[in-house]
Amino acid sequence: MSKKAYIKALANYIPEKVVTNYDFEKTLDTSHDWIVTRTGIETRHMSRDDESAYDMAMSAINNLKLQGIDLSEVDGIIVPTTTKEYIFPSTATLIQNALGLKNCFTLDLSAACSGYIYSLNTATSLIESGMCKNVLVVATEKITKDPNPEDRGTVILFGDSASVALVSAREDDGRGIIAMQMKSEVREDIISLKASGSAFPITPERMDNHEHQIFMEGSEVFKIAVTEFANSMNQVLEKAGVSLDQVALFVPHQANIRIIQYVAKKSNFPIEKVSLIIHKYGNTSASSIGLGLTEAYHEGRIKKDDYVLLTAFGGGLTWGSTLIKWA
Ligand code: ACO
Repeated sequence: MSKKAYIKALANYIPEKVVTNYDFEKTLDTSHDWIVTRTGIETRHMSRDDESAYDMAMSAINNLKLQGIDLSEVDGIIVPTTTKEYIFPSTATLIQNALGLKNCFTLDLSAACSGYIYSLNTATSLIESGMCKNVLVVATEKITKDPNPEDRGTVILFGDSASVALVSAREDDGRGIIAMQMKSEVREDIISLKASGSAFPITPERMDNHEHQIFMEGSEVFKIAVTEFANSMNQVLEKAGVSLDQVALFVPHQANIRIIQYVAKKSNFPIEKVSLIIHKYGNTSASSIGLGLTEAYHEGRIKKDDYVLLTAFGGGLTWGSTLIKWA
């Protein structure tokens, strides 16, 4: 019998420190009302100075272990992140070492806010091909270090966190990850983080120009996001022969509440069936969908046989979806 990938276990890690919109009012020309109205964000969490992306990843994994989940049979680790620990060793390899896993491949994956979807879909393909049996997807982002603290258009958006999913093989009875979609397109003119790539070594001049920080033409990104969100959702549903009204829970990437509201309204999808976390955590990049999925699951919002739709859009540009029939 062929194998299907399914999500066996989920856990999150949220750093303790809360940053409110009022905190930004002290240093920037902004207001709580502007931020809430234009983005839906009320608070976001920030990691400690001495807490790295790897540390947050390990805290999320620890929360998974506290559920009694055995990780000794993990044979693949994928870490979607834009804030990896080092260039190499990869963050995934550091995690492998900490878990004491011998028969395991590791991969850091760069797809910005679509990283969780790209990783789930990659894990699914590896499992369906027979290469792996248990893949740990560990999204971790210390992204609050990346915006220019003086740029009110980006710094207010982001929060830190980590989210882990254990994706495992099971006999194919129609449940599990049933359809996937991914696409990308270069638009560095509207969103980029260029230094310290090999073409853009960090120099004092580049630092003065804030080229080591996130550049984003927010309203341009917004326009493409709403279109490609809807396209990606429709394409993955069509692949599976599932209609949107059969979907029990929609977990979108959370960059802006207005993107989510627009997509839900345009496709006539009830907002009550969306896992919404942006008000608490802001945009947590690759870990955002993991946070929303894990919270909904632990709140009992997902039952066996439910269709759960995950869709992301992010820097790159990258976008994609995963459709799950919950096992
Ligand atoms: N407080 C007050 N005013 C602000 C703030 C702020 N924090 N930020 C921007 N403004 C001002 C701008 O300066 C501008 O003023 P002006 O008209 O005098 O020039 C005005 O508000 C409108 O600016 P816009 O950029 O057009 O504001 P918009 O409503 O588009 O909101 C936002 C900006 C929130 C960034 C929105 O465009 C957005 O969410 N875009 C999509 C982001 C996204 O999806 N990114 C991809 C994922 S991120 C990743 O992958 C790393």
